[in-house]
Amino acid sequence: MAKKIVVLGTGGTIAGTGPAGGAGYTAAQLGVQALVAGVPGLAQAAPGGLLAEQVAQVDSKDMGCAVWQALVRRCLAHLADPAVGGIVVTHGTDTLEETAWLLHALLPVDKPVVLTCAMRPATALAPDGPQNLLDAVTLAAHPQARGVLAVVAGVVHGAREVTKAHPQRLDAFASPDAGPFGWVQSGAVRWAHDRPPSVRAPRHGALAGRLPATGWPRVEIVLSHAGADGALVDWMAAGGVRGIVVAATGNGTLHEALQAALARAVAAGVQVRIATRCPLGRMAAIEGAPWQDAAGLSPVKARISLMLALMAQ
Ligand code: SIN
Repeated sequence: MAKKIVVLGTGGTIAGTGPAGGAGYTAAQLGVQALVAGVPGLAQAAPGGLLAEQVAQVDSKDMGCAVWQALVRRCLAHLADPAVGGIVVTHGTDTLEETAWLLHALLPVDKPVVLTCAMRPATALAPDGPQNLLDAVTLAAHPQARGVLAVVAGVVHGAREVTKAHPQRLDAFASPDAGPFGWVQSGAVRWAHDRPPSVRAPRHGALAGRLPATGWPRVEIVLSHAGADGALVDWMAAGGVRGIVVAATGNGTLHEALQAALARAVAAGVQVRIATRCPLGRMAAIEGAPWQDAAGLSPVKARISLMLALMAQ
């Protein structure tokens, strides 16, 4: 028997309003019930029924641990319900990849959790949100869909790869290194390489039900760039930062002054992860250094992994 799909609203441009055809709009204005009601055919895409629930109403540039905690809680509750087949999360584009990675690290993988968003507000002359929401529900109702996925502009992305790659285009997201997991086309899911993506147990599943709403370990991101002097790192270490992710040049290289400051931070107990600031490819693993590489994660996702690892300690 077909199962229910739950749509959790968190805000974003998909729920944004403004003058039709105008440039300005405000994100996170419409409730998720209105978004669901505004999509013809959504009920047919979820033959087991739809349930819409507002978890938050934020512009995702302002995303933080309180909303994440609430979202994880509601996902856990719905995923545990045998009548629920999958979850859709409507989200802003700006930090969708961070939320996707957080959920991937925490949630069980036996049912799909599909994030979607929009580049145009709901009041645009030709909004992209309704189609993205329909595609997300179609994907969440697919019998082979599992784990955390994102679907935008008809392209299905995995949580590890998905990234916002363009500030304006409707097709703003990419899976730059590994490519997409599939597509939703004409109401049907087509998997890349004709097979659904494999899923692995969440790395920090034990944390999911006990995340605090505030006080997550402070982890900051610094950039290695021409002229970097490491003063920011010294300042952060003195201020009690628990972790630093470096968006390093190329294959994980660091400005020598920044490197010296990072060594001082490590000596003071700060955990450091090195990611590359290159948008494509994966830097080589780091060996024999006082810090680890970020296991191929982008700096923003490496920050989430380090926060969770510090919480798990
Ligand atoms: C947001 O991220 O909430 C605003 C921008 C967007 O959704 O495109």
